[in-house]
Amino acid sequence: MSDKRIQNLFAAVAYHYDFLNSLLSLRRDSAWRRETVKASGVDLRSKVLDVCTGTGELALAYADKIGAEGFVIASDFCFEMLVIGDEKVERKERGTGASFLAADTLILPFLDDTFDVVSVGFGIRNVSDLEMGIREMARVAAPGGRVVILEFTQPVNPLFRSLYYFYFTKILPFIGNLISRSQDDAYGYLPRSVMKFPNCEALKAVMEQCGLTDVRFYRKTFGIVSIHVGKKPDNRLT
Ligand SMILES: C[S@@+](CC[C@H](N)C(=O)[O-])C[C@H]1O[C@@H](n2cnc3c(N)ncnc32)[C@H](O)[C@@H]1O
Repeated sequence: MSDKRIQNLFAAVAYHYDFLNSLLSLRRDSAWRRETVKASGVDLRSKVLDVCTGTGELALAYADKIGAEGFVIASDFCFEMLVIGDEKVERKERGTGASFLAADTLILPFLDDTFDVVSVGFGIRNVSDLEMGIREMARVAAPGGRVVILEFTQPVNPLFRSLYYFYFTKILPFIGNLISRSQDDAYGYLPRSVMKFPNCEALKAVMEQCGLTDVRFYRKTFGIVSIHVGKKPDNRLT
């Protein structure tokens, strides 16, 4: 799908996005984000960039754990999603908040080696060039910093997978498209894009190709989602 179509697709569902995430994941989405923050190893002083941030839920989960000496920047190229995230900060809903910024993940407007953690939740699957997106995330990560990816994946247990796929490919798109009134079949695009996305081992291999080391992944909720964490090598130590 072209970047323009992706922008339009998310712009159209932005208003219902958080509600539907919570409903369709049976409220697991917040726990997955908290687990991602934990796996990233952030501390009170961390500088965090959350790309493809959408309405900022993952960025704000980081903000909950970061003190006044750290900060969170939340970037996305869909204005309508960013506005909803920014409103949460205005209402002081969560932690230290985050600074929302319009930016394409494929050309991030930051210097090399800037952030302790560069993170993405349910977003890298939508970036038109996966490897380029991860390379760009790695570029702006500090030496020794982490690139963290929370993404849907394909469950490995065949019995669970067939039950889950019935829900994921039939029920979820029906409810999602009905409530969001998506004209672009946004919630049918979700399972289609997940089926085409690399599995956990393949995503690990792509992260390694992008220069990240010590790549580990953790499957969550019967393997519906995974959290990958890779480290940017610190060549100053050699
Ligand atoms: C499924 S939403 C994920 C939102 C959020 N991270 C979450 O955890 O729910 C995917 C987001 O990726 C954004 N996106 C896709 N490609 C992008 C790109 N090249 N640059 C910036 N944002 C992009 C979309 O605009 C959308 O807001």
